[in-house]
Amino acid sequence: MKKSCCIYITGVLALVVLIVSIALVLSQVFQNALNARIKKEIILKNGTDAFEAWENPPPPVYMQFYFFDLRNPSEVLLGERPFVEEKGPYTYREFRPKENVRFSDNDTKVSATMPKTYVFVPEMSVGRREDDPIRTVNVPAITMIEKFKTHPVISNLISSYMKSQNIGLFVTRTVHELLWGYKDPLLAVVHKVRPDIDEYFGLFYKMNTTDDGEYVVLTGDQDYKDFARIVEWRGESSLDWWTSETCNMINGTDAASFHPLITKNETIYIFSSDLCRSLYATFEKEVHVKGIPAYRFVPPKEVFANISVNPANAGFCVPAGNCLGSGLLNVSVCKQGAPIIMSSPHFYQAEQKYIDDVVGMNPNKEDHQTIMDINPLTGILVRGAKRVQVNAFVEKIEAFSQTGNVSTLVFPVMYLNESVEIDAESADKVKSVVYQANVVINIPFIIMAFGILLGVIFIVFLCKNREPEGTKEEQGPLLQASS
Ligand SMILES: *[C@@H]1O[C@H](CO)[C@@H](O)[C@H](O)[C@H]1NC(C)=O
Ligand SMILES: *[C@@H]1O[C@H](CO)[C@@H](O)[C@H](O)[C@H]1NC(C)=O
Ligand SMILES: *[C@@H]1O[C@H](CO)[C@@H](O)[C@H](O)[C@H]1NC(C)=O
Ligand SMILES: *[C@@H]1O[C@H](CO)[C@@H](O)[C@H](O)[C@H]1NC(C)=O
Ligand SMILES: *[C@@H]1O[C@H](CO)[C@@H](O)[C@H](O)[C@H]1NC(C)=O
Ligand SMILES: *[C@@H]1O[C@H](CO)[C@@H](O)[C@H](O)[C@H]1NC(C)=O
Ligand SMILES: *[C@@H]1O[C@H](CO)[C@@H](O)[C@H](O)[C@H]1NC(C)=O
Repeated sequence: MKKSCCIYITGVLALVVLIVSIALVLSQVFQNALNARIKKEIILKNGTDAFEAWENPPPPVYMQFYFFDLRNPSEVLLGERPFVEEKGPYTYREFRPKENVRFSDNDTKVSATMPKTYVFVPEMSVGRREDDPIRTVNVPAITMIEKFKTHPVISNLISSYMKSQNIGLFVTRTVHELLWGYKDPLLAVVHKVRPDIDEYFGLFYKMNTTDDGEYVVLTGDQDYKDFARIVEWRGESSLDWWTSETCNMINGTDAASFHPLITKNETIYIFSSDLCRSLYATFEKEVHVKGIPAYRFVPPKEVFANISVNPANAGFCVPAGNCLGSGLLNVSVCKQGAPIIMSSPHFYQAEQKYIDDVVGMNPNKEDHQTIMDINPLTGILVRGAKRVQVNAFVEKIEAFSQTGNVSTLVFPVMYLNESVEIDAESADKVKSVVYQANVVINIPFIIMAFGILLGVIFIVFLCKNREPEGTKEEQGPLLQASS
């Protein structure tokens, strides 16, 4: 009697535990509690880990430059295809702490500047030096040529001056000069007449130790999806705008911070001041970085597509209606009129025509796509690589004999890879958060397993209790004999 009561209780308990666990799984109580906690903790608030990581990101960021050295300048002037040789990497460690950090609007917003400092890393650079000579397009010269090509008098003056000083369409300068600036003889002359035009030229001129203006971001305390979302830049507060003077479209975060609880069907927006626009990226696949699960987000092909594929790119057709092919963005207006065109490295995902126009282009997905590997739970960027190429638009202008017989070209000058990978210490922190979250989420399943175990015990007891009743007489003596 006592025994069967025990069995009965076990059975009821198993059933109750199973029902409770199924209810827990279906209602997602633990999942929801965890999400609520994550949403509450991952906000920009003085003292939180998230704020500290945002204010002073611990993992090292590397900026690597690859230049295209022109091997056949005289042939190009005769109209032949340029033949370029890639040289690099030239690597700089990038330090970008937030400065002038101020909370505002009842701690729902925080403003900061983000000065970047670049320090050369010889060990990670080809030849351990930044004074390798590179022959490339003379960007100051083509800028002046494009600017004044419709003014016969000025173009004549400039062309004569260029001839007298032996300034041509191509120039040989060191990597350091091309990046950080050099005094250009043509610009120096123009500067005397037009002081607003700088005498110096460099692709990253004046970018060391300077910031690109004040950002105002949301802290995420109102809505977790707004974590670190930029709402104002250089005093402009529209969320989403485009004007030809300022040439910017703000939408998204600064590419180092993402909101937590990212899902696969989400589109993430990143603001990039050097690309003069926001980019977006969509889920590609699941990856693991230093043992941390992550979702890889990449900009879909449409980001750079021509307007027949992506009408949103009409803003890059300047002047209006003048559109370049897929894979190219005319950013001339944000580069003081320099005929600069951005693309992916080696014209990855651009129209085949641009790849074929230059000998030495070998686009491939692995090396040339922009990637962001984000831990979905915390929104932490565990690995990222932003890859962009700077090209110069070159064409034959009759008034400038320096342009010779050159074909109309999108000439690759340099590409960069700005990359980051989570440091060991931060990786351990993220791993422990992910581990704890997994334990919490699996509590209902642990309970369910316990219920199943009870059920099994119940069935075993039940069988044992039933079996002997009918077979007691026959088996009894046998069992006794064998024991
Ligand atoms: C954060 O708190 C510390 C110590 O309380 C204080 O010194 C610092 O100024 C605060 N930072 C901001 C941005 O308010
Ligand atoms: C700031 O928040 C407090 C508490 O939530 C509230 O009482 C106060 O009215 C808010 N102030 C402003 C300016 O929104
Ligand atoms: C940038 O500035 C820092 C600090 O002044 C300096 O140490 C570093 O060498 C500079 N980098 C370049 C590339 O000039
Ligand atoms: C700007 O970002 C929001 C979400 O952050 C998105 O819904 C919207 O479509 C974006 N707009 C553009 C033009 O990219
Ligand atoms: C736009 O791109 C698509 C796909 O690459 C191509 O088929 C189409 O001809 C292009 N349209 C224009 C106007 O260049
Ligand atoms: C790029 O845009 C500028 C104006 O912003 C325009 O003058 C130039 O022709 C464009 N370049 C090309 C190659 O379309
Ligand atoms: C950056 O990308 C280039 C190719 O674009 C690759 O060779 C290089 O290894 C990458 N750098 C890092 C640190 O991953």
